[in-house]
Amino acid sequence: MRISGRGSKTAVCFAALLLMFGEGCSRSSPGVAATKSSAAQTTADPLEIPAGAEGALIWRGKVIFDHTPDQAKPWAGNALSCSDCHLKSGTQAFGSPMYGAAKDYPSFSGRAGRVITLPERLQECFVRSENGQPPPEDSEASKALVAYIDWLSRDALKDRAATGRGYGDMPVLAGNAHRGLLLYAAKCAGCHGREGVPNPPTLSPLWGPQSWNDGAGMNIPAVLAKFLLRNMPADKPGTLSPQDAMDVAAWVDSRPRPKFNQAYRNY
Ligand code: HEC
Ligand code: HEC
Repeated sequence: MRISGRGSKTAVCFAALLLMFGEGCSRSSPGVAATKSSAAQTTADPLEIPAGAEGALIWRGKVIFDHTPDQAKPWAGNALSCSDCHLKSGTQAFGSPMYGAAKDYPSFSGRAGRVITLPERLQECFVRSENGQPPPEDSEASKALVAYIDWLSRDALKDRAATGRGYGDMPVLAGNAHRGLLLYAAKCAGCHGREGVPNPPTLSPLWGPQSWNDGAGMNIPAVLAKFLLRNMPADKPGTLSPQDAMDVAAWVDSRPRPKFNQAYRNY
């Protein structure tokens, strides 16, 4: 479905209504029925992290996850932290949480064309989303992140593993970058800045030399759109229609960003 031109509010609302099979326009979350389940999902309380050496490594992993550029030198290559894309320290349903992730690896990777381990999956995010270098499996960064993700995947949280993995699903749509630019100015620039970086730079850049590179998952508009549909705008998640999300994603992904280093194409 394409909403042409500026599209009156009624038309957009009607479109959202059709797509969502009857979610009312007056509701604050017309786009995403699935978001509601996230309310029931509480975050893993870091105060439950055990004491001792094991706990120290888990805490270290959480700190790296939340402050990657400062804490994972030299592996991180841009201004993004893991928690920018894996929301609330990797505990947000449909914000690509880490619950249960450890239990799904080793797993086949279409991108790598082979079965990969969890440390190798982290390396993928480091060379693409973080535009950096792959931390070896025995590096402190890799060991700490794996310990943290293992902790979030522990049996006590088994039930959550089934809910809200990834960013959820979305209908396949064609994106309109021009309409996306208008939506970006209206709904995103206030926080993220007209050029993808706020001034002062309180949020991580959405494009430019300090953002994800063109080999990252977020550089696929359909993936970015799923993230946006359920998580942005941060103050009103669930208010974008799937077409809005797709159009803004097409705009953001059309902006300049670093080139993926082909030396890492095995990741
Ligand atoms: C620019 C956004 C971005 C950043 C930054 C990022 N990732 Fe990711 N990550 C993704 C996307 C997109 C996926 C694929 C999610 C999907 O399709 O469900 C992913 C997937 C993953 C997965 C597999 C999840 C699963 O459910 O199987 C792991 C593990 C992971 N990332 C860890 C990390 C770690 C650790 C960092 C920080 C070093 C990081 N990521 C930084 C975007 C990002
Ligand atoms: C009210 C402020 C606000 C608005 C409006 C907003 N965002 Fe965000 N955005 C955030 C915050 C805060 C984060 C970081 C999330 C976190 O760390 O938990 C974020 C993270 C992101 C990310 C993850 C990657 C990165 O670089 O941090 C993307 C992509 C994104 N926003 C895109 C958008 C788009 C597109 C829009 C408009 C549809 C939008 N945002 C509107 C506050 C906002």
